[in-house]
Amino acid sequence: TVFDCSLMQLPRVYSPSGNITAVNTGQEIPFDIQRVYYLYDVPGGEARGGHAHKDLQQFIVAASGSFDIILNDGKVKRTFNLSRPYMGVFVPPGIWRELDNFSSGAICLVLSSLLYSEADYIRHYNEFLDYKKKL
Ligand code: TYD
Repeated sequence: TVFDCSLMQLPRVYSPSGNITAVNTGQEIPFDIQRVYYLYDVPGGEARGGHAHKDLQQFIVAASGSFDIILNDGKVKRTFNLSRPYMGVFVPPGIWRELDNFSSGAICLVLSSLLYSEADYIRHYNEFLDYKKKL
């Protein structure tokens, strides 16, 4: 459910010349990272996401700027505003997600447990609801 989607604070290494946050497999996040991608140059007013995954686990960070992530398990919706590079949201499989309210220059960094596979996507909301009923 969406209550398994947790907002997590990541460790920070502070320095007057700039801070560092590291994310390690098996430490800060509960899966092996197989793929990293990032979403950028999102025009004002655009929304992204609008799908769920069957098996993929993800950890999502606003590496720069801010955006909202709306998570929905078919029954309950939760919205997180990500606006700090040391905060992230863990998204387990079977969660419909939408991203919106991107600030200009926002970078959405996504750490993923699996390589890209279109077969893992559920891209239609009605199909998602059917899939959740059958689980
Ligand atoms: P998608 O995950 O639908 O984007 P978003 O959730 O941000 O709206 O991906 C859009 C397209 O990008 C998809 O049809 C194929 C391509 N893509 C890849 O080739 N590799 C990837 O790792 C990702 C995430 C997407």
